[in-house]
Amino acid sequence: MKPRTIPTFPSHAIILLVIALFLGSCRTEPIATYSAEKRGEYAHAAVVSGHPLASQVGNDILEKGGNAVDAAVAVQFALAVVYPRAGNLGGGGFLVYRSNDGSTDALDYREKAPAAASRDMYLDSLANPVDGLSTKGHLAAGVPGTVAGLAAAHERYGKLTWEDLVQPAIELAENGFSISETEADRLNGFQEAFLAFNTNECPFIKELWQTGDLLIQSDLAASLKRIKAKKAAGFYQGETADLIVKEMQSGNGMITAEDLANYEPTWRQAITGNYDDYKIISMPPSSSGGVALLQMLGMVENAPLNEYGFHSTAATHLMVEAERRAYADRSEYLGDSDFYPVPLDSLIDENYLQYRMDDFQPDSASTSDHLTAGNFVNRKESFETTHTSIVDAEGNAVSLTTTLNSNFGCKVVVDGAGFFLNNEMDDFSIKPGTPNQFGLLGAEANAIQPGKRMLSSMTPTIIEKDGQLFMILGAPGGSTIITAVFQVFINVAEFGMPLDSAVFAPRFHHQWLPDQIWVEPTALGEEVKSELSAMGHQFRDVNRMAVIKAIQRLPDGSYLAVGDPRNPDDDVSGH
Ligand code: GLY
Repeated sequence: MKPRTIPTFPSHAIILLVIALFLGSCRTEPIATYSAEKRGEYAHAAVVSGHPLASQVGNDILEKGGNAVDAAVAVQFALAVVYPRAGNLGGGGFLVYRSNDGSTDALDYREKAPAAASRDMYLDSLANPVDGLSTKGHLAAGVPGTVAGLAAAHERYGKLTWEDLVQPAIELAENGFSISETEADRLNGFQEAFLAFNTNECPFIKELWQTGDLLIQSDLAASLKRIKAKKAAGFYQGETADLIVKEMQSGNGMITAEDLANYEPTWRQAITGNYDDYKIISMPPSSSGGVALLQMLGMVENAPLNEYGFHSTAATHLMVEAERRAYADRSEYLGDSDFYPVPLDSLIDENYLQYRMDDFQPDSASTSDHLTAGNFVNRKESFETTHTSIVDAEGNAVSLTTTLNSNFGCKVVVDGAGFFLNNEMDDFSIKPGTPNQFGLLGAEANAIQPGKRMLSSMTPTIIEKDGQLFMILGAPGGSTIITAVFQVFINVAEFGMPLDSAVFAPRFHHQWLPDQIWVEPTALGEEVKSELSAMGHQFRDVNRMAVIKAIQRLPDGSYLAVGDPRNPDDDVSGH
């Protein structure tokens, strides 16, 4: 047996608990288990995104000879118009790229804390978090990264002109588009919050939105025109920047002209690891997604999951225990690696992952250590982020996830500029032991510092098999993103499912604390649940979790693109 080295880590996590009950709050109907409309097979190229108009824009760009990065940029600008709850100019994201020669790259354009931010900025004089301060209103916004990120991606890899990529979004904003039922529901559901944080007229406020209403966004079109003309400078300098600063000043926000002028996205080395014949290529910090995904895969790799069977007691127990351990590590060790020495190599070291599973008991649940009864916070906020998977005719692949954090971010629309700002500051650990809106805990690694990026769970991922492109996937869904990517891949690689079944299949989730398995309707049969209960597991029912958008390269070289019925607006396109 190989000698084991156990990496040295800082002292163990401070523990506590509170739960965010927002999951599933936005929908009550059970998720569909199959939807033929959400899948498409294409000979040459494919796009999956959170909205049909954005997927169509991506395919149009590919048909015009654009590559996967061109299409990704155009889709993101289109989503900023047609999917305002998560598509954005005022947020940030991550892009993972694999070129057809197998080289990889990763772009971190996550928001940053403004220069005036400080560790305890969301605490009152008694050092208690002020309810809502990190999630709603101007102070919740981090310095946006989206436009700088898209410009950097285009500069390094783009083939078509920048103007070609922004123009479709301008047309959608100027001419308007008919809103879907989900968008109408969302806009109606958030009217009160919009009114609370927006004093002037904004296009998202209306007495009652109905399916099919035309949403025209003239201010946003003007912002996009400035971006089209001046690239990132059209956002971070000049009129758009002035409007953001004015908005901040009107609402006690912190973002200054210097914060905007200083924002830079960061190219990083993608994090990679192997699982059987597969190579996983994903996002390193400031996202926790890639690390936690590789940890979970490493912890289950040696088990005969395919013999155990999909959603069997043994497979579920093992996967839950891997998820528990990965999220416990996330809470202690992960943060922006530009500010904190994240022990990246150690965390995904094979020996460490074996050691991590040493205390795994096949017939009983672990307990998420040192649980103390925490304050039980019932937050009604729902999560929203959006993912895009693209492959072009040359086989270049992009996996990109972007977010405002909550639906419509901090609910503030930049007056005169027409876009929502993020509430990403809540993804920092605003106080050790206090969970964020996803119930996630953090420690020193993710404490607020000026210019630092808040930790994310976004997991844009590309997978190779035997050296060839195999899959592109990712999801919105807050803390449940990582476990969804993990389970969809395992469904294909271990349980032999076609990609559409793998995506549509119900899922479960464990994030260490709270010590519960979250289960979607119809995930895990009653018998399995009762066997897991007997082992000591506890359950919590949720309506839906992360919303996967994936593409698989089939053996004949064509592509199967799959959206997720969990988001009715998910759509595929291709040719
Ligand atoms: N805002 C959600 C995430 O980045 O994980």
